This record gives sequence, C-alpha cells and structure tokens, in this order.
Amino acid sequence: MSLLKLTDLHKSFGAVKVLRGVNLEVAAGEVIGLVGDNGAGKSTLMKTITGVYPVDDGMVRFDDEDVTHLNPGERRARGIEMIYQDLALAGQQDVANNIFLGREPTKRLWGILPSFVDKARIDSEAQKMIDRLGVRIPSIHLPVGMLSGGQQQTIAIARALTFQPKLVIMDEPTAALAVREVQSVLDLIEQMRSEGIAVILISHRLNDVFEACGRIVVLRQGSVIADLNKKETNMNEVVSYIVGAHG
Ligand SMILES: Nc1ncnc2c1ncn2[C@@H]1O[C@H](COP(=O)(O)OP(=O)(O)OP(=O)(O)O)[C@@H](O)[C@H]1O
Ligand SMILES: [Mg+2]
Repeated sequence: MSLLKLTDLHKSFGAVKVLRGVNLEVAAGEVIGLVGDNGAGKSTLMKTITGVYPVDDGMVRFDDEDVTHLNPGERRARGIEMIYQDLALAGQQDVANNIFLGREPTKRLWGILPSFVDKARIDSEAQKMIDRLGVRIPSIHLPVGMLSGGQQQTIAIARALTFQPKLVIMDEPTAALAVREVQSVLDLIEQMRSEGIAVILISHRLNDVFEACGRIVVLRQGSVIADLNKKETNMNEVVSYIVGAHG
C-alpha cells in the first residue's frame, strides 16, 4: 500500500494550467527524486500535497485517508512536512528557537501566571535533535543567520523532523551549497530513509538525485512523463525526458 497516492490532480492559476492530471504514488520509506524543467510544476505539485494549494480536481490520499480537503495544519498533523527552498528560518533567532519556531513549549508558574516560553526545554530538545542527526553546529545558541547555507539547511531538516513526519518534501535543498555541505544533506536524507521516512527530493542537480533516490519521476508541463527506477536509467535518459526529446 502506498503512503501517498495522487490521482489525476489538476491545478490552474487563472488561465494557466499548471498541473494536468498528475498521478503519483510514494511508498513508506521511499526516496524519490522529482525533476523537471523550470516551470514544469514541481513546487506547485508539492504544495498540493501539503495543502498550501487546494486542487481544482483530483485526489490526495495519505496513509489510507483522503486528505484532499484538509488544510496544511491538518496535513502536517498527519505527518506531511515540507522544507521550502527559502527555508523560512528566522535569521536573528538562535538555532534552538528556530527548531521550535511557532510551537514553542510553554510552562506556567503556579498555574496562575500567564504561560511563558520554556527556553530551557527548547534548548535541551533542540540539542537532542542535533545530536540525533549527528550534525555539526558550533552552538545551538548562535543566530541562524550566522550559519552557512548548509548548516541552515540542516536546521530546517531538524525542525521538520521534530514533527515526526512520515513524508518530508525538500524543494532544492542542495542548490546553493558547497560540495561538503551537499554531502551532509544527502547523508541526512539517507538517515531519514533508514528511519522509514519517505522523502520527495526536488532538484535540478541530477548527481544528487542519482545518489539519494531509488526512483526518479520527471514532470513536464504539468504531467508525469517518466517514472524510472534508478537502476534502469541513466542521466542522459533523464535529461532527454526533462527537455522533451524523449516523446
Ligand atoms: N501562485 C501562482 N500564481 C500564478 N502562477 C503560478 C503560481 N505559482 C506557480 N505559478 C506558475 O505555475 C507554473 C509552474 O510553477 P512551479 O513553481 O510549480 O514550477 P517548478 O517546476 O517548481 O519550477 P522551478 O524548477 O523553476 O522551481 C509556472 O508557469 C509558474 O509561473
Ligand atoms: Mg520550484
């Protein structure tokens, strides 16, 4: 049984048809690469999975439930996480706060005073997550804006994992990174896979896709035009599907 099943998804923005009947299934713990030219509809498709964009037609099933009409918060509660290309981190705030951004644990004193943010707990939980991922961050007390692009990507992943997701969607996580930082993001994807978390990786960097993913799905003009087992394809074939030289 699939963890995620998209059936005949359609989405237009005004007169522009961006998704034209997308069908896609992802199994639990599977890592798939989603590739396609600029404007093919990749980011839009992912946002129909998270619920940021309602679809015009079609169905999104997750974990054997029709989630098509659920809002993003309801879908996140069911285990769908997305790390956006811009990461949506708060640069002025420290690493620990960013990992808990928007859902800080609170505590009350004597049960009467207004609740306040439990910074000690944020710090200890954030440190646990950083340790679990085995990532190297100089200190969880540093403002995120002072970290490298790769370290920031790591923080965004750590943040996503604290929601205990079943599916993590990553939109171009390695686009702006140096070689060594790319490797640590790919290592984190492998770690997620080994923990049974499904990952959809959107990337223009086919090397990264071939390294991290078992399956490669090509989107072209709003339709899935190829769904390939990595072992049975190669970069030239994937490129030919992306540019439309393959029918
Ligand atoms: N909110 C929006 N309103 C109107 N048009 C949109 C909106 N979002 C995306 N589009 C259009 O939908 C099409 C697909 O965009 P999308 O961002 O999904 O492509 P993509 O495959 O992610 O491309 P890239 O690789 O450049 O990120 C584009 O033509 C884009 O202009
Ligand atoms: Mg995009």
